[in-house]
Amino acid sequence: MEQTLSIIKPDATAKGVIGKIIDRFESNGLRVAAIKKLQLSRADAEAFYAVHKERPFFGELVDFMVSGPVVVSVLEGENAVAKNRELMGATNPKEAEPGTIRADFADSIDANAVHGSDSLENAKIEIAFFFAQREIC
Ligand code: RTP
Ligand code: MG
Repeated sequence: MEQTLSIIKPDATAKGVIGKIIDRFESNGLRVAAIKKLQLSRADAEAFYAVHKERPFFGELVDFMVSGPVVVSVLEGENAVAKNRELMGATNPKEAEPGTIRADFADSIDANAVHGSDSLENAKIEIAFFFAQREIC
Protein backbone atom coordinates (compact mmCIF):
# COMPACT_ATOMS: atom_id res chain seq x y z
CA MET A 1 0.00 0.00 0.00
CA GLU A 2 1.21 3.48 -0.92
CA GLN A 3 -0.10 6.96 -0.27
CA THR A 4 0.21 9.87 -2.69
CA LEU A 5 -0.86 13.52 -2.66
CA SER A 6 -3.35 14.86 -5.19
CA ILE A 7 -4.32 18.48 -5.80
CA ILE A 8 -7.36 19.39 -7.87
CA LYS A 9 -6.14 22.72 -9.23
CA PRO A 10 -8.09 26.04 -9.45
CA ASP A 11 -9.21 25.52 -13.07
CA ALA A 12 -10.94 22.26 -12.17
CA THR A 13 -12.54 23.51 -8.93
CA ALA A 14 -13.88 26.52 -10.89
CA LYS A 15 -15.37 24.25 -13.55
CA GLY A 16 -17.28 22.20 -10.97
CA VAL A 17 -15.59 18.89 -11.78
CA ILE A 18 -14.29 18.01 -8.29
CA GLY A 19 -16.70 15.08 -8.01
CA LYS A 20 -15.91 13.79 -11.50
CA ILE A 21 -12.17 13.81 -10.75
CA ILE A 22 -12.57 12.10 -7.36
CA ASP A 23 -14.69 9.48 -9.14
CA ARG A 24 -11.72 8.68 -11.43
CA PHE A 25 -9.63 7.91 -8.33
CA GLU A 26 -12.30 5.86 -6.52
CA SER A 27 -13.25 3.93 -9.67
CA ASN A 28 -9.63 2.94 -10.22
CA GLY A 29 -8.61 1.52 -6.87
CA LEU A 30 -7.50 4.69 -5.09
CA ARG A 31 -9.17 5.31 -1.72
CA VAL A 32 -9.54 8.87 -0.38
CA ALA A 33 -7.75 8.77 2.99
CA ALA A 34 -7.92 12.55 3.60
CA ILE A 35 -9.43 15.52 1.76
CA LYS A 36 -9.94 19.28 2.13
CA LYS A 37 -10.63 22.40 0.06
CA LEU A 38 -8.46 25.44 0.67
CA GLN A 39 -7.11 28.66 -0.82
CA LEU A 40 -3.31 28.53 -1.11
CA SER A 41 -1.39 31.65 -0.11
CA ARG A 42 1.46 32.77 -2.37
CA ALA A 43 3.91 31.55 0.31
CA ASP A 44 2.17 28.13 0.33
CA ALA A 45 2.38 27.77 -3.46
CA GLU A 46 6.02 28.93 -3.60
CA ALA A 47 6.99 26.47 -0.87
CA PHE A 48 5.03 23.58 -2.38
CA TYR A 49 6.59 24.05 -5.84
CA ALA A 50 10.04 25.12 -4.51
CA VAL A 51 11.75 22.45 -6.69
CA HIS A 52 10.69 24.49 -9.73
CA LYS A 53 11.80 27.90 -8.42
CA GLU A 54 14.58 28.36 -11.00
CA ARG A 55 12.34 27.32 -13.91
CA PRO A 56 11.06 30.00 -16.33
CA PHE A 57 7.43 29.04 -15.67
CA PHE A 58 7.65 29.32 -11.84
CA GLY A 59 5.94 32.74 -11.60
CA GLU A 60 3.04 31.65 -13.80
CA LEU A 61 2.72 28.38 -11.90
CA VAL A 62 2.44 30.20 -8.56
CA ASP A 63 0.02 32.81 -10.00
CA PHE A 64 -2.17 30.03 -11.28
CA MET A 65 -2.10 27.95 -8.09
CA VAL A 66 -3.31 30.93 -5.99
CA SER A 67 -5.98 31.98 -8.53
CA GLY A 68 -8.74 30.06 -6.74
CA PRO A 69 -9.39 27.28 -4.25
CA VAL A 70 -7.85 23.83 -4.59
CA VAL A 71 -8.86 20.42 -3.23
CA VAL A 72 -6.00 18.46 -1.70
CA SER A 73 -6.32 14.79 -0.92
CA VAL A 74 -4.32 11.79 0.19
CA LEU A 75 -4.98 8.81 -2.10
CA GLU A 76 -4.16 5.32 -0.91
CA GLY A 77 -3.82 2.06 -2.82
CA GLU A 78 -1.46 -0.36 -4.48
CA ASN A 79 1.18 1.59 -6.46
CA ALA A 80 -0.77 4.76 -5.65
CA VAL A 81 1.95 7.15 -6.84
CA ALA A 82 2.25 5.65 -10.32
CA LYS A 83 -1.47 4.84 -10.57
CA ASN A 84 -2.41 8.46 -9.87
CA ARG A 85 0.13 9.74 -12.45
CA GLU A 86 -1.33 7.30 -15.00
CA LEU A 87 -4.89 8.50 -14.32
CA MET A 88 -3.73 12.16 -14.58
CA GLY A 89 -2.08 11.87 -17.99
CA ALA A 90 0.78 13.96 -19.40
CA THR A 91 1.56 17.43 -17.99
CA ASN A 92 0.48 19.04 -21.28
CA PRO A 93 -3.17 18.05 -21.83
CA LYS A 94 -2.59 18.13 -25.61
CA GLU A 95 -0.20 15.19 -25.12
CA ALA A 96 -2.32 13.36 -22.53
CA GLU A 97 -3.76 9.95 -23.43
CA PRO A 98 -7.53 9.97 -24.17
CA GLY A 99 -9.54 9.10 -21.07
CA THR A 100 -7.04 10.63 -18.64
CA ILE A 101 -8.05 13.41 -16.26
CA ARG A 102 -5.93 16.02 -18.05
CA ALA A 103 -7.19 14.99 -21.50
CA ASP A 104 -10.79 15.25 -20.31
CA PHE A 105 -10.72 18.26 -17.94
CA ALA A 106 -7.60 20.40 -18.60
CA ASP A 107 -7.19 23.32 -20.99
CA SER A 108 -3.46 24.08 -21.07
CA ILE A 109 -0.08 23.16 -19.60
CA ASP A 110 -0.67 25.78 -16.87
CA ALA A 111 -4.34 25.07 -16.21
CA ASN A 112 -3.87 21.31 -16.17
CA ALA A 113 -6.52 20.28 -13.62
CA VAL A 114 -4.49 18.14 -11.22
CA HIS A 115 -1.18 17.67 -9.44
CA GLY A 116 0.14 14.31 -8.31
CA SER A 117 3.27 13.41 -6.36
CA ASP A 118 6.00 12.12 -8.70
CA SER A 119 7.71 9.70 -6.26
CA LEU A 120 7.03 7.95 -2.97
CA GLU A 121 9.65 10.13 -1.29
CA ASN A 122 8.00 13.34 -2.53
CA ALA A 123 4.55 11.97 -1.66
CA LYS A 124 5.57 11.71 2.00
CA ILE A 125 6.89 15.30 1.99
CA GLU A 126 3.81 16.65 0.18
CA ILE A 127 1.34 14.80 2.44
CA ALA A 128 3.08 16.23 5.52
CA PHE A 129 2.92 19.71 3.92
CA PHE A 130 -0.90 19.63 3.93
CA PHE A 131 -2.12 17.12 6.52
CA ALA A 132 -1.64 16.33 10.19
CA GLN A 133 -1.48 12.60 10.93
CA ARG A 134 -4.91 12.68 12.65
CA GLU A 135 -6.53 13.97 9.42
CA ILE A 136 -5.46 10.89 7.47
CA CYS A 137 -7.90 7.99 7.92
P1 RTP B 1 2.41 18.61 -11.21
O1 RTP B 1 3.72 18.72 -10.44
O2 RTP B 1 1.56 19.85 -11.11
O3 RTP B 1 1.69 17.34 -10.87
O4 RTP B 1 2.74 18.47 -12.76
P2 RTP B 1 3.80 17.52 -13.44
O5 RTP B 1 4.54 16.72 -12.41
O6 RTP B 1 3.10 16.78 -14.53
O7 RTP B 1 4.79 18.58 -14.09
P3 RTP B 1 6.04 19.34 -13.44
O8 RTP B 1 7.19 19.17 -14.36
O9 RTP B 1 6.22 18.95 -12.01
O10 RTP B 1 5.59 20.86 -13.52
C1 RTP B 1 4.76 21.44 -12.52
C2 RTP B 1 3.72 22.31 -13.19
O11 RTP B 1 4.38 23.41 -13.82
C3 RTP B 1 3.72 23.72 -15.03
N1 RTP B 1 4.65 23.61 -16.15
N2 RTP B 1 4.72 24.48 -17.10
N3 RTP B 1 5.42 25.89 -19.46
C4 RTP B 1 6.05 24.76 -19.17
O12 RTP B 1 6.91 24.28 -19.87
C5 RTP B 1 5.67 24.06 -17.96
N4 RTP B 1 6.19 22.93 -17.53
C6 RTP B 1 5.56 22.66 -16.37
C7 RTP B 1 2.59 22.75 -15.22
O13 RTP B 1 1.39 23.37 -14.82
C8 RTP B 1 2.95 21.61 -14.31
O14 RTP B 1 1.80 20.94 -13.85
MG1 MG C 1 5.44 17.57 -10.70
